[in-house]
Amino acid sequence: MLSQDLANIKEEVLESIEKANDLKELNEIRVRVFGKTGLITNISKGMRDVLPEDRPKVGALINEVKTAIECKLQEKIELLENIELNKKLEEEKIDITEPSKDSELGALHPITDVIDRLTDICVDMGFSVVEGPEIETDYYNFEAMNIPKNHPSRDMQDTLFITEDILLRSQTSAVQAREMEKRKPPFKIVCPGKTYRNDNDATHSPVFHQMEGLVVDENISMADLKAMLTILMKRLYGEDTKIRFRPSFFPFTEPSIEVDVSCPSCHGKGCSLCKGTGMLELLGAGIVNPKVLEMSGIDSKKYRGFAFGFGLDRTSMILNSINNIKNLYRNDIRFLEQMKK
Ligand code: DAH
Repeated sequence: MLSQDLANIKEEVLESIEKANDLKELNEIRVRVFGKTGLITNISKGMRDVLPEDRPKVGALINEVKTAIECKLQEKIELLENIELNKKLEEEKIDITEPSKDSELGALHPITDVIDRLTDICVDMGFSVVEGPEIETDYYNFEAMNIPKNHPSRDMQDTLFITEDILLRSQTSAVQAREMEKRKPPFKIVCPGKTYRNDNDATHSPVFHQMEGLVVDENISMADLKAMLTILMKRLYGEDTKIRFRPSFFPFTEPSIEVDVSCPSCHGKGCSLCKGTGMLELLGAGIVNPKVLEMSGIDSKKYRGFAFGFGLDRTSMILNSINNIKNLYRNDIRFLEQMKK
């Protein structure tokens, strides 16, 4: 009788476990069978009414049914858990071959880019890159560069003075004397940085950038300067660039030259960038005036030097076809977007 009941329970429960579709259903079955008033629990309670001699047999039978149900439950739990896990993995699958969403990438500011390019070329040629203060003394900016107070050549640069002796440097040439005082020849330095003048139109900004170069050694000649600048310009603007040297005047160099290159936009034919001339005026340079060497404690009988200085804003405008210098300082995101290469 009891064994028949057990057999029925076993059959029915195993079947419903088989049919169960989720873990919740399995749990309900577990409660229905093993809970406080569960099928097996009730039968176990009924052991009291079984004859003592039959008890071991019935007990063994109950245990067998219990174990069979528990095993089946466990099996089904694992199966359902596996199905659920696979479903989750399938749903959360990431296709790594899919193109990613666009992420915004920044770009170097065109001035930074030009500084990097120029200093890279100069470092290749053995130059050290130095910096100097933007708030400078009259001495380093002018006097040590052979531009005494009240000298007419000061008018070449409309300087922003803070006090009578302190100013915003109007040229990176100010770093020349500082480096000559610090260093022992031979040395080669370049100094890129900000400079300031009271100038303001489409090609001039009150804050702009220059890069100064200075080489001091024995037996320096104009040939060294020309060779060095030719390499620099060709590496910056391309191998087919033509370079022209013109005589000029700067108080700190003697002789002084100005350097033009063939217009990279029209290759010398004449266009709006070069105002029809085919050439662009790029930088000032020359053989360091012996007076400048002496003022900074360098023996001008033993050593000579060459120097050069040029505008980085103009260089950047030429390289990137920028027609208004103010675009470099407005930080208009639409403009900077176009500078991405
Ligand atoms: N400092 C000059 C300027 O701002 C540029 C310059 C010319 C620098 C000749 C030099 C040089 O070192 O030799 O106009």
